Amino acid sequence: MSESDSSLKEYFTGEHRRCDELWAEIEAGAESEGGQDVATRFERFAAALGRHLRMEEEVLFPAFEEATGMHDAGPTFVMRSEHEQMRGLLEQMRDAASEVDELVDLGDTLLMLIQQHNLKEENMLYPMAEQALAAKWADIREKLARYGE
Ligand SMILES: [Fe+2]
Ligand SMILES: [Fe+2]
Repeated sequence: MSESDSSLKEYFTGEHRRCDELWAEIEAGAESEGGQDVATRFERFAAALGRHLRMEEEVLFPAFEEATGMHDAGPTFVMRSEHEQMRGLLEQMRDAASEVDELVDLGDTLLMLIQQHNLKEENMLYPMAEQALAAKWADIREKLARYGE
């Protein structure tokens, strides 16, 4: 996921895939007998997603905004507001963690939001950022490494 030679787009896209995998584990848990593991799997997914959102908001987006001069009306403005919607759904899911069906229903809504959001990032924002931040990518990756796995 964070191989040292990965490009900006590869790095962040790898994070998206990792979150997808963790979501699939929740679904698999919900479908299994009893679904007892779902709350734990949810916390693992929520931690990975929350970490990814922070890496974008605290490191990637500020660097992109500084390099391009695109702040309030730019793509990161939209991405930040979609992150807030994701956090709202994560909170609702956490409240519902003991009700597996409700958690999975909310998760379907979250997943749709994430898929649309990730497509925009992978097809538009990350390629733009890769160009704008080519000279800074090594520094940025160092900052991202501080967020751990
Ligand atoms: Fe994002
Ligand atoms: Fe992302």
